[in-house]
Amino acid sequence: MPEENTAVLEFLQTRRSRPAKLLQDPAPDRDALLPILTAAARTPDHGKLEPWRFIVLEKAALARLANAVDQCGRESGRSDEDITKARNQFENSPLCVAVIEVQKPSEKIPPIEQTYSTGAVCLALLNAALASGWGANWLSGWPSHSSEFCSAALGLSENERVAGFIHIGTASAIPPERPRPDIGAITTWLDS
Ligand SMILES: Cc1cc2nc3c(=O)[nH]c(=O)nc-3n(C[C@H](O)[C@H](O)[C@H](O)COP(=O)(O)O)c2cc1C
Repeated sequence: MPEENTAVLEFLQTRRSRPAKLLQDPAPDRDALLPILTAAARTPDHGKLEPWRFIVLEKAALARLANAVDQCGRESGRSDEDITKARNQFENSPLCVAVIEVQKPSEKIPPIEQTYSTGAVCLALLNAALASGWGANWLSGWPSHSSEFCSAALGLSENERVAGFIHIGTASAIPPERPRPDIGAITTWLDS
C-alpha cells in the first residue's frame, strides 16, 4: 500500500473557505505570506511557462483600489449596489493577493492550459493560506473582469487578467459546512 499523508488528506477532505465578510485583522505579514506564495507557485504548469504572477494588495493599495472601483463603476454605468459591493470587498479586506494570469506565447501549450494552471494556483494559494491557519476566500466580482479597471488600477497588460482575488486574514467565525457534490453523480467509472 502507498504511504498515506493523513494530515494532508484530512485537510483536503475538510477544507472550507472563510467568507470574506468574516475576515478581519491581523493579516499575514510579508514573512508569513512568502511561504504561502511559495506553496501556491508550486503548481502544475505545462511547458514551465509560469503563466501567472501575484500582486499583493496591502492596506494602502486596497484603499486605492476601493476608490478606483468607485470611479470605474460610475464611468461604466454600474448600479450603486454593484459599486458599493465591489468597493467594500477591497475596503474591508485585511490583505488580498490578486492572482494574475499571464498568457505566454507558445506553439505547444494552448492558452486554455495556461488558464487552467492559473486557476490551480488560486486554489493552491487558498489552501496554503487555510492550512497556515488563516481565513481565506477566493472572490472575483465585476472589477476582476473589467479590462479598464485592471489596466488602470492594477497596471495589467493586454495579455494579463485577474484569475482571482484571494482575501486573507483572521476569521471571526467558522462558517457552517455547505452542501458538497455527490461523487457518485459526477463520476463515471469506465472499466472497458
Ligand atoms: C473563480 C471563482 C470566483 C468566485 N467569486 C466569488 C465572488 O465574487 N463572490 C462570492 O461570494 N463568491 C465567489 N466565489 C465562491 C467563493 O470562493 C466561495 O467561498 C467558495 O465557493 C467556497 O468554497 P469552499 O467552501 O469549498 O472553500 C468564487 C469562486 C471561484 C472559484
